[in-house]
Amino acid sequence: MAARIDHLVTSGTFSLDGGTWDVDNNVWIVGDDDEALVIDAAHDADAILEALGGRTLRAIICTHAHNDHIDAAPALAARTGALIHLHPDDLPLWRQTHPGTPPDRELADGQVLTIAGEDLTVLHTPGHAPGAVSLYAPGLGAVFTGDTLFQGGPGATGRSFSHFPTIIDSIRDRLLTLPATTVVRTGHGDTTTIGDEAPHLEEWIKRGH
Ligand SMILES: [Fe+2]
Repeated sequence: MAARIDHLVTSGTFSLDGGTWDVDNNVWIVGDDDEALVIDAAHDADAILEALGGRTLRAIICTHAHNDHIDAAPALAARTGALIHLHPDDLPLWRQTHPGTPPDRELADGQVLTIAGEDLTVLHTPGHAPGAVSLYAPGLGAVFTGDTLFQGGPGATGRSFSHFPTIIDSIRDRLLTLPATTVVRTGHGDTTTIGDEAPHLEEWIKRGH
């Protein structure tokens, strides 16, 4: 059975450095009719469970540990038995949101996760957050970039735990090197492609965000 990508948008807030903002997050579900994994359990475990529709949830993958991307992860894990996966460099951020509930598994650069016969390769893409990862699924022609790369440029690097030169290195060396036709499925907002974003790298470096 062929794997597919399902998508829902959930709403909530993002808080960091003493500020709080309303946000809509993309939640990505990769799988077939039997099993799936969730990329970013944002805001609403009920909505994600409904989108899973009774499929076995094999894993909850966190692209990074900003609270808007992980706030529903423990609730979803408790209700499904799925294990939460996070790059260890984002544990300090994770603890700000879920101090008593550590994630279950560490993600590592180059690790391959397989779901419904499709491989997703973990690309460590720090900058927006130190433990930010992207997930490249060549068989699906997709890369899930969290808040590292959006339609129109890099994710925000103005707050704590972020670093603009680092996100530029990640985008240039790990993402823009993927095939131009690769569809970029982001943490917020619209989908884009590597080929649509790649020509703008120098612009982003010049503007500094
Ligand atoms: Fe973020």
